[in-house]
Amino acid sequence: MQEPFGRQRPKLVTEPPGPESRRAAERLARVESRNVTYLADDWPVFWEKAVGSNVRDVDGNVFLDLTSAFGVAFLGHRPPALDEALAEEPLIHGMGDVHPPRRKVDLLERISEIAPFENAKTLLANTGSEAVEGALKTTGLASGRPGIVAFQGGYHGLTLGSLAVTERAHFRGPFVDRAYDGVTFLPFPDRDPSAVLERLESVLREGAPNGDPIGTVLVEPVQARGGVRRAPDGVMAELSSLARKAGALVIADEIYTGLGRCGAWFASSLVGLRPDVVCIGKTLGAGLPISACVASGEIMDAWPPSEGEAVHTSTFLGHPLACGAAVRALDVIEREGLADRSAEIGASLLGALRAGLRDQPHVREVRGLGLLIGIDLSGSTGVGDGMGVLAAEALLARGVIALPAGDRGEVLELSPPVTITTNQIDFALEAIIGVVQELA
Ligand SMILES: Cc1ncc(COP(=O)(O)O)c(C=O)c1O
Repeated sequence: MQEPFGRQRPKLVTEPPGPESRRAAERLARVESRNVTYLADDWPVFWEKAVGSNVRDVDGNVFLDLTSAFGVAFLGHRPPALDEALAEEPLIHGMGDVHPPRRKVDLLERISEIAPFENAKTLLANTGSEAVEGALKTTGLASGRPGIVAFQGGYHGLTLGSLAVTERAHFRGPFVDRAYDGVTFLPFPDRDPSAVLERLESVLREGAPNGDPIGTVLVEPVQARGGVRRAPDGVMAELSSLARKAGALVIADEIYTGLGRCGAWFASSLVGLRPDVVCIGKTLGAGLPISACVASGEIMDAWPPSEGEAVHTSTFLGHPLACGAAVRALDVIEREGLADRSAEIGASLLGALRAGLRDQPHVREVRGLGLLIGIDLSGSTGVGDGMGVLAAEALLARGVIALPAGDRGEVLELSPPVTITTNQIDFALEAIIGVVQELA
């Protein structure tokens, strides 16, 4: 019997990209700023419909999505929770910071319940970058010190405020003069952590390159787009202690890792990171754009009260549809134990990939936490530039959507929906192992 769309294995009716995708690419090239969508002979396919772990493109090809579309579709694409939220919501748009939708209060209360803080308070936003900017403003106000420590390989967004803390030259290069220059970038402490912690201690003492004293340490508990990088046990706890001792506040950017993806509400709790502020997004809206920065009431109250004109807000803040979807999403994650399920499926997928890729010369390491997994293809030599890109392209030809990660595109990143079926996982495993073998 045919599985319903959402639970199917891939089925290609054309070689991707098919003729309709090619036509859409030609139209796009004429009208979109050319820095955005990568267009090549074998890339991209244009999506038409997505449910569960399946995507159908404009040519009728059915793909298996191992990305959750940038980590968003943790519950699967178009989950029932989203449809229910849309169906019940009488309000399409409200006045977030003036006459707010009631749904905004529902969501803020729900976030307070899961937050790792006493009396948590939240600043809502629409995208991950904005949540990071809100967090940076918050810690700047609460610490009274503008300087920031962030990490090489970290990805926090590309708006000017978040770009200032995203180190990769590819993104920063043309705009370096416009970004705040009180940021020290340290190596991510997955390699040589003692040296990194020593440097952290001295930067916390000596300040940022522009002389600003450090009030913020911003870190992803597991670097996601940076190549699924994890520090050894104990390092994140030590990092938190050093920051605290120096009077700096720790922001955990959990936009990718949070809300179940890594096997807990917050990956920080799994890696020993003790944040003062947490950023969430992606999974939060079950497919609708919404994000948040969350902290204890004490830290959030560093903001002045609104006296009629909000000091920080935006047109779509507290959007009722997105808030309703987020409440439902959080309920489903809790009720169905999806963080635990992510830990279980992730551990079994990680084990199967390690076993299947054991003897492959390109594979340096297979690593991950929950359903965030990276296959580092930089081999024993450490040279693997673009290998994750090649693997992602080869997978697309087999009907599997995956993305490269890492500063040099050397990692194949997997972050499938938690609703992925065993049958789909079996297909994915065979395809990934086959593709990596072909690269050898
Ligand atoms: C850890 C992390 N922070 C921030 C962002 C930026 O989020 P957005 O693209 O929604 O602005 C991302 C996006 O991938 C991310 O992975």
